[in-house]
Amino acid sequence: MRIAIGSDHAGFEQKQMLVDYLTNELGHEVIDLGPDTDGRVDYPDYGEKVARSVASGEADRGVAVCGTGIGIALAADKVAGVRASSITSPEFADLFRRHNDGNVIGLSGRFVDPEVNRDIVRVFLTSEFEGGRHAQRVAKIMKLDESGKVEGGQRPPVMPINR
Ligand code: RB5
Repeated sequence: MRIAIGSDHAGFEQKQMLVDYLTNELGHEVIDLGPDTDGRVDYPDYGEKVARSVASGEADRGVAVCGTGIGIALAADKVAGVRASSITSPEFADLFRRHNDGNVIGLSGRFVDPEVNRDIVRVFLTSEFEGGRHAQRVAKIMKLDESGKVEGGQRPPVMPINR
């Protein structure tokens, strides 16, 4: 399979480890979308790169790593055609594939051990979507890519707090 991978600075070290694991141990073709160093970057930029690679068909699946795996998955999931989630256990990786047909995972470079992330990635790439009753649910999710926009919706006030 062709796997797109990217990270921010907090996920960089584990991203490098996973590039090696995917290439040399699992035998996949890896598209490393960066960064090339652990210098500070913004996770949405790399979540977007990974997601666009999968959505365009350049890659079959995507792996995105940040500090928690949450922010980079949130960004990736905004790209139409992508189903991305933060995944912290091999069990969730399996269900994410079998029930949600997930195509991008967000991994935590700071709170999840490298061995666990390797297991998560292995399961994510081997578990298959079950279809059946799950297919119509995933179709409903994908419909939100087109119909999910709220025009002129009321937004809560933004509090001027700097943290
Ligand atoms: C960067 O400090 C951190 O916020 C980021 O890696 C990630 O955890 C966001 O969800």
